Amino acid sequence: MKKLIKTIGVALAFSAFASFGAQASEGGALKQVDWSFNGAFGQFDKAQLRRGFQVYREVCSACHSVRLIAFRNLADIGFSEDEIKAIAAEYEVQDGPNDDGDMFMRPGRPSDRIPGPFANEKQARAANNGAYPPDLSLMAKARFGGPDYIHSLLTGYEDAPEGFELGEGMNYNPVFAGAQIAMVAPISDDMLEYADGTPATADQISRDVSAFLMWTAEPSLEARKSLGFRVMLFLVIFTVLFYFINKKVWKPVKRGEQV
Ligand code: HEC
Repeated sequence: MKKLIKTIGVALAFSAFASFGAQASEGGALKQVDWSFNGAFGQFDKAQLRRGFQVYREVCSACHSVRLIAFRNLADIGFSEDEIKAIAAEYEVQDGPNDDGDMFMRPGRPSDRIPGPFANEKQARAANNGAYPPDLSLMAKARFGGPDYIHSLLTGYEDAPEGFELGEGMNYNPVFAGAQIAMVAPISDDMLEYADGTPATADQISRDVSAFLMWTAEPSLEARKSLGFRVMLFLVIFTVLFYFINKKVWKPVKRGEQV
């Protein structure tokens, strides 16, 4: 019994230490959003993801790509086949070579990856004062805090404090490492009109696009969580089952019967 209490004590101390560590390294600077996909049973809010895609298309896609996402993946967030065909057809995609050995442009198809705004990194830098707008597909996994970080970054622009030396063409944003970023604040109130009528405050736009980028980074999040739950359920049932089997098997021995 003493040993058991000791073990539980050590386990509790470790878990307290671990959660303290996590809180400490978050630095307190990031906004903690109560995302629909948080927690063991969290699921994406499909309507939010569709709004986020709209924000990406109308705002972020001027500078950023999401090169890992194909048009047909949009079926996951509730677009119908016809809608996807129509969205894809709005883009020009390079294909080829044809029989003459030339590359050519054609309208996009559902199986194409969503084309980015620039042909290559040099072109992207040339259009952005030398800064490179990174691909956003995996950004929610690449930064500590994930969607909280993206939301905090997008809504974190401020006037630089006095005495802060801002580089040319840079913007003050304490959420970004070094507090200055080449991206101009991309979001403002009512900069777009949502197809589903949701009021387009800067905060809402930022949340929606951050959730969308969480989906691009981990489209299989829901499957992972539901599999995790089923595995836990399986383990619980097996634990109970084996407890009774164990009891039954040892019963004669414990009674002192000859086996
Ligand atoms: C006018 C061009 C432009 C637009 C529009 C734009 N960005 Fe950026 N973005 C940039 C550039 C340039 C950088 C690189 C900044 C740097 O390295 O200083 C960047 C960097 C980022 C980063 C990376 C920050 C990091 O930690 O490295 C994220 C995330 C991001 N943008 C998200 C977005 C989202 C979401 C939108 C749409 C709401 C958007 N951006 C719209 C130009 C743009």
